[in-house]
Amino acid sequence: MSSVLSPEMRRRAGGRDIRIVFDEATIAARVHALGQEITAAFPDGELLVLGLLKGSFIFLSDLVRQIDRPLHLDFLVASSYGSEQVSSGNVRLVYDPETPLEEKHLLIVEDIIDSGRTMKKMLALLATRRPASLAVCALLNKNLLPVPIPEVRWVGFPAPPAFLVGYGLDHAEDYRHLPFIGDLN
Ligand code: IMP
Ligand code: MG
Repeated sequence: MSSVLSPEMRRRAGGRDIRIVFDEATIAARVHALGQEITAAFPDGELLVLGLLKGSFIFLSDLVRQIDRPLHLDFLVASSYGSEQVSSGNVRLVYDPETPLEEKHLLIVEDIIDSGRTMKKMLALLATRRPASLAVCALLNKNLLPVPIPEVRWVGFPAPPAFLVGYGLDHAEDYRHLPFIGDLN
């Protein structure tokens, strides 16, 4: 498989030369395997899948269709605030799931774990809701944390030290709709 964009994909990317890191077929195969692992990990109880918007939306929609058991689906919208723009360390929920979280197996679906600050704050917040269990499935992990987050049970791919876009990931809201994951630089 070539890492160079076809003319069609180049047009979709607004003419930008993005290098393909994980192509559509590679992603589909991995998402299928993750779905099987997640199915096996939750033999009983109520499973509530929580997609962290907006970056997880494509991964989330593909992943839930590979999970072979009953589940409910909702979203989380986090907002960082403080002096810095992102990863300021302060995270609050600007959309909180309507359904009660108590006694349910919660599976958080995230696009990419970078510094891990967003995820750590989110997990601390959700743990106060007394779920039956709390686990994370991240599409990508940059593996920058000296100590891994124990709740991160599933990772699609280790991420190279690059700025990745596509398959839900954006750069200033561009490129979310690209069907592959690519390196912007
Ligand atoms: P963290 O709190 O530093 O782990 O930041 C995680 C968030 O930053 C992710 O949910 C993404 O929205 C964003 N992010 C981090 N790295 C990338 C990247 O390479 N491409 C696109 N978004 C990224
Ligand atoms: Mg983002």
